[in-house]
Amino acid sequence: MNTTSLLSQPLATVAYIGATILFIMSLGGLSHPETSRRGNQYGIIGMAIAVLATIFGPKVTPAGWGWIVGAMAVGGSIGIYAARTVKMTQMPELVALMHSLVGLAAVFVGYANYIDPAASANLPADEHMVHLIETYVGILIGAVTFSGSIVAFGKLAGKISGKPVILPGRHFLNLIALGVVIWFGVQFAGAHEVSQGMVPLYVMTAIALLFGVHMVMAIGGADMPVVVSMLNSYSGWAAAATGFMLSNDLLIVTGALVGSSGAILSYIMCKAMNRQFFSVIAGGFGTEGGAAPAAGAVPAGEVTPITSAETAELLRDAKNVILVPGYGMAVAQAQHTVFEITKLLREKGVNVRFGIHPVAGRMPGHMNVLLAEAKVPYDIVLEMEELNDDFPDTDVAMVIGANDIVNPAAEDDPTSPIAGMPVLQVWKAKTSIVMKRSMASGYAGVDNPLFYKENNRMLFGDAKKMLDEVLVALKG
Ligand code: TAP
Repeated sequence: MNTTSLLSQPLATVAYIGATILFIMSLGGLSHPETSRRGNQYGIIGMAIAVLATIFGPKVTPAGWGWIVGAMAVGGSIGIYAARTVKMTQMPELVALMHSLVGLAAVFVGYANYIDPAASANLPADEHMVHLIETYVGILIGAVTFSGSIVAFGKLAGKISGKPVILPGRHFLNLIALGVVIWFGVQFAGAHEVSQGMVPLYVMTAIALLFGVHMVMAIGGADMPVVVSMLNSYSGWAAAATGFMLSNDLLIVTGALVGSSGAILSYIMCKAMNRQFFSVIAGGFGTEGGAAPAAGAVPAGEVTPITSAETAELLRDAKNVILVPGYGMAVAQAQHTVFEITKLLREKGVNVRFGIHPVAGRMPGHMNVLLAEAKVPYDIVLEMEELNDDFPDTDVAMVIGANDIVNPAAEDDPTSPIAGMPVLQVWKAKTSIVMKRSMASGYAGVDNPLFYKENNRMLFGDAKKMLDEVLVALKG
């Protein structure tokens, strides 16, 4: 223990407890758009306290400060650069990449912990065994998180095909891998010297890395929302494992918070997509992102285009309007124009509401963040189940750059890769208008029979450009 530290152990513990409370308050704040800013501030303060208490606490000597400052300068610069340059639509990839770093850190800490004789010196035999198990499991979770997140990054960024890659006898392969990992775990725990334990560690790490790749490769494009939240959960457990290895209570608590909230999010995502969590993990759902329409989704005729002036007229004459934003609104950055139109229509007495699908866009809460940024009032932004029954009483349902989340095939076509996923039933409105640039499919790569329905109109073009035109026509 370091006797020259600025913070004694009891003070460091108090600081850690304070940081833990702030993290919990942060999560509470992030659960609603109105309190999310405060939630973020709690998180920032909590993290600042955690970092300072660790640097000045009893486990770090002043000799180590230079390393920490150097690492923070490099990491902080990369972080600031990424925050400034990464577009909102690239956030899911960035998050996946960050999860991979948490996994990699757990692997490195695990190896360093095992190699460093001081890490487990003077431990009684039973505690030493626990320490070895923590190290082995920590590296295992870290390696799966690392390689799985890298593949998820590739899929979300479109660098790897979204098509599920299913190896023959994959469950059997996974079972063998599990058996080998357990067998080498026993060898590792029984090793008398570090050099003896390294081989089992290397073999297990290689298997864990392959397993991470295999697991995410097997999941189809349509199920990527679950993968994103699942890896979020894994990164939490990897951080908690690192906390065990370093005997850092705060890291254990923080990791457990992230791990369990990620697991809850995965459950919510599965419910939103009407999927069984274990079937998603087992893989094979979904098809190639942006690919040809799936078999069974036969185009049902001609589409009817509409102009922006005609759209404005329909909106002006409407009493009830529901706007359904999707990934295209994020790409076009059309949220501010959407807000202008909403304001204008509301001033004219039109009842305008937003229908938000849980997996709209490319990350949880994607649409809520964009609409909040554009200052759309929260009380007119509703969840899918809150307004799905209202479409029959709606004059105009306007779909802004969304596709999969309004696809009736999810309800009507059991062969569709998105079959069973609840969708916003825009086709039940008197008129639906779909705003997109072409007839291309959405993320799940399935054709959308909505486009061919009699009461549907297609407003072709970039969402921002078309909405600007609609706004001008509405003002005119
Ligand atoms: P998508 O089904 O991906 O459809 C978006 C549509 O926006 C596309 O068909 C595209 O058509 C259009 N678009 C693109 N750029 C545009 C622009 N500049 N102006 C106008 N339109 C534009 O999106 P969605 O309906 O939001 O559904 C989300 C999908 O992503 C689901 O399949 C979901 O499972 C998946 N996903 C979600 C998440 C999370 S957590 N939300 C994570 C990963 C994957 P054009 O090319 O013809 O314009």
